[in-house]
Amino acid sequence: MTKLHSSDTEKNARIAGTGSYLPQSILSNADLEKMVDTTDEWIFSRTGIRERHIAAADEFTSDLAFNAAQNAIASARIEANAIDLIIVATTTPDKVFPSVATIVQRKLGIAGCPAFDIQAVCSGFVYALTTANNFIKAGGAKCVLVIGAETFSRITDYTDRGNCILWGDGAGAIILQASIEVGVISTHLHADGNYEKMLHVPRKQDGTSDTVIMEGNAVFKMAVNTLDQIVDETLAANGMQKSDIDWLVPHQANIRILQATAKKLDMSMDKVIVTVDKHGNTSAASIPLALDVAIKDGRIKRGDVILMEAFGGGFTWGSALIKY
Ligand code: COA
Repeated sequence: MTKLHSSDTEKNARIAGTGSYLPQSILSNADLEKMVDTTDEWIFSRTGIRERHIAAADEFTSDLAFNAAQNAIASARIEANAIDLIIVATTTPDKVFPSVATIVQRKLGIAGCPAFDIQAVCSGFVYALTTANNFIKAGGAKCVLVIGAETFSRITDYTDRGNCILWGDGAGAIILQASIEVGVISTHLHADGNYEKMLHVPRKQDGTSDTVIMEGNAVFKMAVNTLDQIVDETLAANGMQKSDIDWLVPHQANIRILQATAKKLDMSMDKVIVTVDKHGNTSAASIPLALDVAIKDGRIKRGDVILMEAFGGGFTWGSALIKY
């Protein structure tokens, strides 16, 4: 097992390991055809989605997060008690409180270190990664467990055909370690609360959560334009060219949004990690899930430069440029 030796010179943060977890049950487009007035052809051509995973009735976001965390810990070859901060990005916590992060901490048996959740919907993982990176840069943490985990099926209206076709459940995790070598090159976060009503889950009168309400077409256009801008911002901040990016690991919302960002980067689609076909939109979980898939299947290798970007409710959006 790797023992962490960190010093004042180790103010960079690198990804030491990744993990992910998907619930067993699969909801295919054919299944949805039996639930709402839709077709596999419509869903696939408009979104690129064929199927998504759905958590079992007794499976919660913390269960998905814990499984992904265990995989990431094994992949980083660390002991769980080396972790000194846990951050979970989620919009679908098990409870109003305590946070999913503290539940994961209990399951890992590592009481003591700080643990908290971040809520930035589909941009949640980029927000959590940025927070973890800043903790490491400031010397406040040396080994951070960063998780994106969601059970969006719990806030999905399975009678709304323009919406229920998109969402899936899952979790992805990384171990971000203090390092002398550069890992996280830069991160960029934004939000604009004026768009609350375009994509939201209101509270019912009785205080319980309702389901996702979305102006799909308007969100689509905003996402494409905003992601174009964040690509420019990220490259300009680092004096980099489009050709310097080896891999795009985008939030998996809709294949047409991914294609638009790839076009903006003059990047062929084989350099874009696509999991939306099999996972659907898993909100804060989608980037770490896609990252883990592409690292484990050998496409992303040590030294590769990765651009992550996301857009979600709020609106929130952001990017992270990383040397793996
Ligand atoms: N099956 C068949 N027809 C459907 C349908 C479905 N599942 N859902 C909607 N339609 C119909 C609509 O009723 C509409 O019919 P009409 O023209 O007779 O009124 C037509 O298809 C077009 O609807 P529209 O909403 O304009 O489709 P779209 O091309 O914008 O696709 C989304 C809908 C939701 C797939 C698309 O807008 C999208 O992906 N938006 C972004 C969502 C997103 O990523 N949100 C999260 C951000 S993180």
